Amino acid sequence: MDHKALVKAARAARKHSVSPYSRFRVGAAVLTPGGKIFTGCNIENSSFGLTICAERTALFKAVSEGHRRFVALAIATDEAGFIPPCGACRQVIQDLAPGATIILCDSAGRTKTYSVEELLPHPFGPADLSRTA
Ligand code: THU
Repeated sequence: MDHKALVKAARAARKHSVSPYSRFRVGAAVLTPGGKIFTGCNIENSSFGLTICAERTALFKAVSEGHRRFVALAIATDEAGFIPPCGACRQVIQDLAPGATIILCDSAGRTKTYSVEELLPHPFGPADLSRTA
């Protein structure tokens, strides 16, 4: 499937980034099986640890509106190279969108695609919690 619209949405979402501390803009866009796109950006906080990444913003927006299945997630930055999601986002992606295609997008609009398994091998997941039951 062509993810052009998704990549475009992720790139556009960078403009909403609130990143006065890092000056590192990130945009993300997640696609549902029904073709709906939810976007997100990184939102930094003066108490730095409260910052939320673009990927989690997009996923949490979609989940909070009732969507639980995702086919692809695009992540766009202003960097010349491909910037992979941070560890925290990889864990959230693993829990909420394990089957999604992850599309990294550089400043020029070039893309590189990964599976969640490639980004987070041997993940912790919901099934691990049931072992203590
Ligand atoms: N950031 C993201 O939005 N996604 C990532 O996966 C990596 C980091 C943001 C968080 C922070 O606002 C800035 O990039 C620098 O870490």
